Amino acid sequence: LGKSIVHKPTIASTQTLAKQLAATGAEHGTIVIADEQTAGRGRMQRTWHSRKGEGIWMSLILRPEILPNKAPQITLLVATVIAEVLSNFNVKPLIKWPNDILINDKKVSGILTEMQAEQDQIEFMVIGIGLNVNQSKDMFPADLKPIATSLKIQSGQKLDPIVMTQQILMKFEDVYEKYISHGFDVLKGNWLKYGYKLGEKVYIQTAKRQWYGVIEGIEPDGALRIKNDDGSVETLYSAEIKW
Ligand code: BTN
Repeated sequence: LGKSIVHKPTIASTQTLAKQLAATGAEHGTIVIADEQTAGRGRMQRTWHSRKGEGIWMSLILRPEILPNKAPQITLLVATVIAEVLSNFNVKPLIKWPNDILINDKKVSGILTEMQAEQDQIEFMVIGIGLNVNQSKDMFPADLKPIATSLKIQSGQKLDPIVMTQQILMKFEDVYEKYISHGFDVLKGNWLKYGYKLGEKVYIQTAKRQWYGVIEGIEPDGALRIKNDDGSVETLYSAEIKW
C-alpha cells in the first residue's frame, strides 16, 4: 500500500480523482490524499465537510482478488483499523455497522466504498476515509454540531493528521494481508470489540421497511445479525441503524 501516493493541497474530492485514476489503470495500493476538499462526498449523496488541515481526507485504490459480494468485508476491516488507531488516544471509538465510527455517540469518521466489478471479479475498489482530527466544536457547521465530533474535541489533544494517516495505512496493510490469506472470519473478533450497541435494541431502516430489533452481532461474512421482537433472526447486508 502507498507505493504510489497522489497528494493534492486542494481538490474537489479524493474519491472522484481516485475513481478516475483507478479506471485508467492506477495500481493496487495507490492512495489519493488531500489537505482540503471542496466537494467531499459522503454516503447517500451527503456532503462531507473537509476543510484544510482539520482531518484526514483520503481514498485508497484496491484491486482485491475476491468475489464482489465480499467487498463490504474490506470496508468493515478499514473501520476496525481506524477504531484501533483512535483507541490509542485515550478515547473509546465504536463502529456503527457498517462503517461509521463514533465517539460518545458522535461521528468522528466515515467510510465511503465504491466499486467497479464485473460478474465475479472486482476491477477496483475505492475506499474513501474521512476522519475528523483537529476541529474544535465551533468549526462544524450548525447542522453538524449535534452529530459530529473530532479526535481533538474528544481527546483534548491536537494531533498530526500525517502521523495518523501513516498509522492507519500500516495497520491496514497488515490486516489486509491477513484477510487475503485467511478470510474475514478470523478478523471478525476485532470488529466486535468496537461494535456499537451490540446486544441493544436499535431502530433499523432498509430500503423496504423500518423497525426495532436487537443487534446480535455480525455473521462470519460481515452481515449484520438482528433479533426481532418475535424471536426471529435476520441477517442484513445493507441497512442503516438510526438509534
Ligand atoms: C460517510 O460517512 O458518509 C462517508 C464519508 C467519506 C468521506 C471521505 S473524505 C475522503 C473521500 N473523498 C470523498 O469525497 N469522500 C471520502
